[in-house]
Amino acid sequence: MKLVLALALAATVGVAATAQTTAPPPAIVVYKSPSCGCCKAWMEHLTANGFKVTGKDMDNVQPIKDDVGLPAKLASCHTAIVDGYVVEGHVPAGDIKRMLKERPKIVGLSAPGMPNGSPGMETGRKDPYDVMAFDAKGNTTVYAKH
Ligand code: CU
Ligand code: CU
Repeated sequence: MKLVLALALAATVGVAATAQTTAPPPAIVVYKSPSCGCCKAWMEHLTANGFKVTGKDMDNVQPIKDDVGLPAKLASCHTAIVDGYVVEGHVPAGDIKRMLKERPKIVGLSAPGMPNGSPGMETGRKDPYDVMAFDAKGNTTVYAKH
């Protein structure tokens, strides 16, 4: 009987390990203006990188930014929520995936403004930009350089 239990346990652990490698795509909800083309392009970038993307159109996204406690200096066009984290603006999918994996103690990430050359902002120009992490107190740190 004990052996059977041990085998059952081993099987469960095996299933859990498999489930982790084939985790469902992270679901992300994007609050944006219906007329924003770059927001749409960013959503396509996320979809292409395995995210399950839902867009929520609204004429004014500012109330959402206030709600999530986004520091004003980090504001961009859209505001998104993924797995309890805030993602503001044109943050590359790779940075979001890294955050979801490392699960830092932050509120979220932002690519402030609308940097040329960031995902969804393929203007032909490439400006260097920082992706910032921010916490609930409004402290910001550089999370990634691009
Ligand atoms: Cu934009
Ligand atoms: Cu946008």
